[in-house]
Amino acid sequence: MNRTNNCGELSKANLNEDVRLSGWVNKIREKGFIVWIDLRDRYGITQLVFDKDRSSEEVFSAASNLGREFVIEIEGKVIERKSINEKITTGEIEILVSSLKVLNKSLTPPFTIENESDGGEELRMKYRYLDIRREPVKENLIFRHHLSLEVRNYLSKNNFIDVETPYLIKSTPEGARDFIVPSRLNPDHYYALPQSPQIFKQLLMVGGIDKYYQIVKCFRDEDLRADRQPEFTQIDCEMSFVDQEDILKQFEGLMSNLFSKFLNKNDVIFERMTYNEAIENYGIDKPDLRYELKINEISNEVKGKGFQIFDNNDFTASIIVEDKSETTRKEIDNLTEWVKRPQIGATGLLWIKHNTDLTIKSSFDKFFSEKDLKQILNKVSSKPGDILFIMSGDKKNTLEQMGSLRVELAKRFDLIDNNKMCPLWVTDFPLFEWDEDEKRFFSMHHPFTSPKPEFLNQLESNPGKVIANAYDLVLNGNEIGGGSIRIHSFDTQMKVFELLGMDKEEYTDQFGFLIEALKYGAPPHGGIAFGLDRLAAVLQGKDVIRDFIAFPKNNSGKDLMIDAPSKLTKEQLKDLSK
Ligand code: AMO
Repeated sequence: MNRTNNCGELSKANLNEDVRLSGWVNKIREKGFIVWIDLRDRYGITQLVFDKDRSSEEVFSAASNLGREFVIEIEGKVIERKSINEKITTGEIEILVSSLKVLNKSLTPPFTIENESDGGEELRMKYRYLDIRREPVKENLIFRHHLSLEVRNYLSKNNFIDVETPYLIKSTPEGARDFIVPSRLNPDHYYALPQSPQIFKQLLMVGGIDKYYQIVKCFRDEDLRADRQPEFTQIDCEMSFVDQEDILKQFEGLMSNLFSKFLNKNDVIFERMTYNEAIENYGIDKPDLRYELKINEISNEVKGKGFQIFDNNDFTASIIVEDKSETTRKEIDNLTEWVKRPQIGATGLLWIKHNTDLTIKSSFDKFFSEKDLKQILNKVSSKPGDILFIMSGDKKNTLEQMGSLRVELAKRFDLIDNNKMCPLWVTDFPLFEWDEDEKRFFSMHHPFTSPKPEFLNQLESNPGKVIANAYDLVLNGNEIGGGSIRIHSFDTQMKVFELLGMDKEEYTDQFGFLIEALKYGAPPHGGIAFGLDRLAAVLQGKDVIRDFIAFPKNNSGKDLMIDAPSKLTKEQLKDLSK
């Protein structure tokens, strides 16, 4: 071994030992006759000291010629350090260097390799290999490794087996857009990269595998956000002979294990809520339960007072923020501008202040007497000190806008307890959602999701009302997993394809293999998939998944380091008959 030790392990217990270390020059400090260098490797930082009196002239002058990020190997003695650095594990010692070898030089890096780097996001993505040298990025990758290892161990102990499924598959129109790969051997024919292994895991159940998992790359050509990447990783699972309850319990087990192992939290409660309850109370299907801020409808209380906004709209609701009745005009104006941004699309924001001196003030005082305002406050059980934010409009949009406002209020008023983990199962999703533009139903999850048995007889007569055996796992306002009990009956599957507007030829062409498989004794089955990148980020209290992916894409789907996507040469295109 070249190294006797790494840069994160030496302590007073090693005093006087002769050691050999390798790593990168993190920092250089010179003070006349002494040079100190922070040597960094994956494991930590160790201080090296070069002393004109105690080191040879050759070594001392070589140290003076080092630059940041040079790769070096040194030999020296572990000695006690005068000024202890309590921030690092090796802070009580330093190495008095007797020999120094430069293993490689480095250009000056385009940004500082520090916890708080001076490099912008794009620059750091271009030089991602340098960014990975930074402690926070490196730590995220190490955490991700431990996380997937723990997931594998848990699932394996619970009898799940890891089976790989193909990446070159067939394009299907349902779901997000596919990434397409042309086939050279079959001109004008294309593979698609899988958006998930959904159909394959179902076929594995037909194949009798019984409990499957895979930590697997998935590809979706969709618009990117902080919590979305075009290629991301799922913890994909499927089980046979189970109902919804079995699946929720099994994966509560997995998550509880992770909470305990990584966060030292042992009795985390998993709440449950139907999709409808989530939308009505929080305006969103992935509510963050670390804070209250429920939406309360007040349509009846505000109508008929001559205020057009309330009178002309079907739906009015409020969110109470406690102890914030002293919110300033400026803060309210600022929030109003925020809800009016096109991303939220609200027409405005109204308010009532329930002051601690028991006076009541509102932005629509002209139309409402104190008694009228009190009626609203009673309806929502407001206490003195509260401020109520109010929106009016059609029900669907207003709830959605208030859902966004709720998250923003929690941030602005600092109401989020970052120590909390609030997992929530959202259940009872509608099977279909109606698309007004295309004038047809789409699956809310995917076309293989089964309706709840009690809704089977309404499948054709009232598809919009059918509730699915589908569930999402939400963690602190992030959708980290989703799944369902699948359709295992041939007849029901065909009916669902038909309700999605496909005729027999179409669904046979696209999903013939699945339909065929359902005829050969498909067991009842169901499953779930978690976003590993998202899970890693949320467990670390972050919401940008890029930081947990070694080589991520930017918001335009580009890898700035390797410069992908790129054009092809004429020859390559010719090979593909283009
Ligand atoms: P779904 O589409 O809900 O379900 O995906 C499962 C989970 O994967 C994560 N996820 C993403 N993470 C990062 N970037 C993305 N672009 C992205 N898209 C999804 C989310 C999500 O909850 N086959 C079904 C699962 C099943 O029914 O078993 C599926 O893929 O955390």
